[in-house]
Amino acid sequence: MSFPSRVTVVEVGPRDGLQNEATPLSVDDRVTFCDDLIGAGLPVVEVGAFVSPAWVPQMAGSGEVLRRLATRTGVRLPVLVPNRKGFELARAAGAREIAVFTAASETFNRRNTNATIAESFDRFAEFVPEARRDGLHVRGYVSTCFGCPYEGAIPAGRVVEVATRLAGMGCDEVSIGDTIGVAVPTQVADVVGRLRDVVPVEQLAVHLHDTRGTALANVLAALKEGITVVDSAAGGLGGCPYAPGASGNLATEDLVYMLQGMGIVTDVDLAAVATASRAVAHRLGRPLPSRYLAAGPAPLGRSPS
Ligand code: HMG
Ligand code: MG
Repeated sequence: MSFPSRVTVVEVGPRDGLQNEATPLSVDDRVTFCDDLIGAGLPVVEVGAFVSPAWVPQMAGSGEVLRRLATRTGVRLPVLVPNRKGFELARAAGAREIAVFTAASETFNRRNTNATIAESFDRFAEFVPEARRDGLHVRGYVSTCFGCPYEGAIPAGRVVEVATRLAGMGCDEVSIGDTIGVAVPTQVADVVGRLRDVVPVEQLAVHLHDTRGTALANVLAALKEGITVVDSAAGGLGGCPYAPGASGNLATEDLVYMLQGMGIVTDVDLAAVATASRAVAHRLGRPLPSRYLAAGPAPLGRSPS
């Protein structure tokens, strides 16, 4: 299989990025960050999470962030929702897209959501059917698909089982997460290859963390398997507060630089994403790990198309 001609980049920086930052950003700063990313042409921007503020204080105020973005058009603005309470709060704030999340590892899921994987599905059953009836787009995340900080190796069969169940429950899209950035391309090809047999590949996305420098190589492996939706975070922000050792997500700049150079259309303005990341880095008071952000554009005449 060759590479796709177009890839949808799902920007998760304002959620997966900021949820792990020691310095919580204000609602104002988060709205500005989202607006910058929308302005950069990102077609999907995950703007926040309706999780318990006792668990993830950085995401408090997500309702206000979403409300203040309500008039933005031509962009999808999903929010993370763990349970019925989060769903109700998200609906009240005007959410048109939600993302539920569970894991391929029992221990990680318990640490992250205080529930077994089966209990996660019981929680989803309390609102996903209603969300679908109301025409909301529903994404499902499977975390720790390639390794768990508590359990180590995760059998590919577990990933297939959980992803199939999410799709069967009505998730429009299922995102396969390398939460702690341990995956290598052969493993990605294996897992995606197996998933393709049970979930249409157009319904699958990959969510990669660059903890060990393998994220872009893993993207290529996923694209070769037919994936056309890739999650990333501006500047390489992020990680999960309940996954020790999980560092930044795959950086949007690094992803878009590679895709553009390969002639794969994203509609994303790379320079504008970098500007958004620099502004956030300034507010956070630390440099962000994106390689492109550090290196800048390729020298004149050598830039890819
Ligand atoms: P719990 O403590 O078991 O919840 O947490 P509970 O139902 O027993 O309720 C306890 C209190 O929390 C109650 O308040 C509830 O009302 C409140 P009290 O009566 O004590 O005042 N509560 C809520 N408040 C606001 N919003 C809610 C909500 N639900 C209950 N939705 C819970 C269970 C799921 C809520 C908690 O474990 C939680 O919020 N976990 C989220 C952790 C998280 O956000 N992790 C990061 C996101 S996942 C990720 O990053 C991975 C991903 O990027 C993919 C990848 O990389 O692999 C997606
Ligand atoms: Mg993540």
